[in-house]
Amino acid sequence: MSLLCSVGQLAQASGLSVRVLRHWEDMGLISADRSPNGHRRYGPAQVTRLYRALALRRTGLGLSRITALLDEQDPDPAVTLRAHVEQLDQDLRRGGELRNRLAAVLASLEENQDTEDAEAGKVQLLKKVIESMTMFEQYVHGYHSQENQRLQDQAGTLVELLHGDTGFPPGTSVLEIGCGVGAQTLTLAERSPGAALTCVDISPESLDQARRRAIAAGFEGITFVQADVFDLPAAHGPLSAGRFDHVFVCFLLEHLADPATALVKLRAMLKPGGTITVIEGDHGSTYFHPDSQAARKAIACQVSLQCLAGGDALIGRRLYPLLIRAGYRDVFVSPRQVYVDASRPGLVDGFTHKTFIAMIDGVRQPALAAGLIDAQRFDEGIHDLLRTTEPDGVFCYTFFKAVGTH
Ligand SMILES: C[S@@+](CC[C@H](N)C(=O)[O-])C[C@H]1O[C@@H](n2cnc3c(N)ncnc32)[C@H](O)[C@@H]1O
Repeated sequence: MSLLCSVGQLAQASGLSVRVLRHWEDMGLISADRSPNGHRRYGPAQVTRLYRALALRRTGLGLSRITALLDEQDPDPAVTLRAHVEQLDQDLRRGGELRNRLAAVLASLEENQDTEDAEAGKVQLLKKVIESMTMFEQYVHGYHSQENQRLQDQAGTLVELLHGDTGFPPGTSVLEIGCGVGAQTLTLAERSPGAALTCVDISPESLDQARRRAIAAGFEGITFVQADVFDLPAAHGPLSAGRFDHVFVCFLLEHLADPATALVKLRAMLKPGGTITVIEGDHGSTYFHPDSQAARKAIACQVSLQCLAGGDALIGRRLYPLLIRAGYRDVFVSPRQVYVDASRPGLVDGFTHKTFIAMIDGVRQPALAAGLIDAQRFDEGIHDLLRTTEPDGVFCYTFFKAVGTH
């Protein structure tokens, strides 16, 4: 290669496509000079930077983190890399659990195999694997620390829009189901002084974090219990039938294979006349400027993955019929639109960037692994979503909040 190389030569030498090189340039990760006729030209310093970026990319770091590291803009690279190691550890643990679960399903089927009917055996095998993986992927976002941070950012940004009218009277008992790391719990506690909160989640790790956050914020009296919504009501104890004045559910139904049954189970937790409040999103309500097919495709990956895991990322529009079918009365649904343009910088950062784009970016790996999209197209989609956070960009998303009575 001569001292200055073209984009085609660099693509060939680095193994990246020309399109990816252009995308990396758009992201500020690499740069190019221009020849007199406008073609890209790369000198030794630019090629060295590309190879450094490639080396860091092999660790699995995201493009924006790599750019910050190479630009020496990362305030503490050691902290960033330690967080990444933690993430890799979680991925490894998860990979190990996944492998063991798959091996166990195969072993149990081999033991009970009916050799007479090979076709039925194949169907049974796939059914078992799908069931097992759906349970493993309790929900598509997983339990990563980045996801937990995203949920905190989401709760913080949307507090007025979603909770301006949330509040339960003193002396009432409130069940929050699917509380996760407690992102909504603190808001509930702040807005319902004197109400007795019981918060439930299927994940003991998330509950632990929620408990610690509540105590740190001075809410000592909240009860945290590990349970599966589908095992409610319990035969006795704090989760027995008819104990609660109010049930609160946020961003849980979208992850469940059978939200209708969950709502019936939750109705049984209420006293006669008690209420349920449900908040869910609907990714079909997303539109933005500038529009982009690649961005819509990346969002569609999230919707498909959630569907493959048994959930429904478009559930917001179904809240009314679901609640009616589960036996609730006086059901009222209000759409809550988040409208974001540059005149609302808090929402550009807190919602478009840290909530929505972070969520879509979080499914990159599973979307590629499932063959839903290729890496280049996905990165282009994220790039175009980021484009909506620029001064002339606009982003819209609608949540749905439903209230019903026992
Ligand atoms: C997207 S998070 C939402 C957390 C929280 N409500 C929020 O708004 O930030 C969904 C939560 O539901 C929990 N979950 C999933 N399936 C569940 C089940 N069957 N029973 C109870 N909790 C469940 C997950 O562990 C996770 O913490």
